[in-house]
Amino acid sequence: MNTSKGTMRYRALRAGAIALAAWSVAAGGCRGDRSSEPPRRFFPDMDYQPRWNFQADTGFFEDGSTARVPDPNAVAFGRARFDPNEYADRPWAASFLAQRKDLLAEDDAVYLGKNGEDYVDYIPVPVTAERIRRGQERFNIFCAVCHGYEGDGKGMVASNFIAPPADLHADLYTDPIQRTARDGYIFEVIRNGVRNMPGYAHSINVQDAWNIVMYVRALQASRVTSLDELSQADRDALEGMERPEPVEQAPAESPTPLEGDAATSGGGQ
Ligand code: HEC
Repeated sequence: MNTSKGTMRYRALRAGAIALAAWSVAAGGCRGDRSSEPPRRFFPDMDYQPRWNFQADTGFFEDGSTARVPDPNAVAFGRARFDPNEYADRPWAASFLAQRKDLLAEDDAVYLGKNGEDYVDYIPVPVTAERIRRGQERFNIFCAVCHGYEGDGKGMVASNFIAPPADLHADLYTDPIQRTARDGYIFEVIRNGVRNMPGYAHSINVQDAWNIVMYVRALQASRVTSLDELSQADRDALEGMERPEPVEQAPAESPTPLEGDAATSGGGQ
């Protein structure tokens, strides 16, 4: 009894297995076979969804249009459309107004450093001490590695360059007769690079590029301006400035580590 029951179950299982194998070959083909049939999807998830084509008509909405107009009180996610000029007297609108001006980028002199086809001679934005300071900071971050903190082309990174970085104190960049000495040209080089120098427009925006031009001019002036040319007030300010203390040479004897240092140095001997 037990045996025949077991045999029957075995036969049934075997028949099932053969049928399944036959079905899978017939239905699925072998793995790797090409087929022009659409793939089988056992879990279609969200592969198929109803949709409408843009601007197609439909009987579903009263106005017959698939394009829906947002509710008048809807607030757009991400950005809102409004005229910042209407709010010009509110402090928070200032950043929108500035951004808008930048986005329009209408003024070629400011945004391209150009007047028609040619580079502008002079910086087209107001020059202030604050902006020069900002330019100094940006120059030291982005330019000094190659051009040196003094702008003489002797930066650390560039010491092995085959094409050495320009010495920004050279006539080419200081003599107003030279096209390459125009403010607009220096701006162009900062933003878009030249020959072996990469452009920095990705990390130096338009305003900062002008700030750097201002600082480059200050660097250049610092080399050729004598103290006598300064106004009395400027001279007083300069003389009143703190000078860095000369660095004292460390004594030759080897210093004894402090107790605290020894304790935190991670041990070892
Ligand atoms: C990665 C190194 C590197 C950095 C950073 C760099 N420069 Fe240069 N720069 C060069 C090299 C190299 C040249 C010479 C390019 C050539 O003649 O092929 C050059 C040339 C120039 C020139 C002369 C262009 C000409 O037509 O002769 C100016 C002006 C200049 N750089 C300004 C700047 C300013 C301002 C910055 C900072 C925003 C800056 N550079 C950042 C490497 C650099």
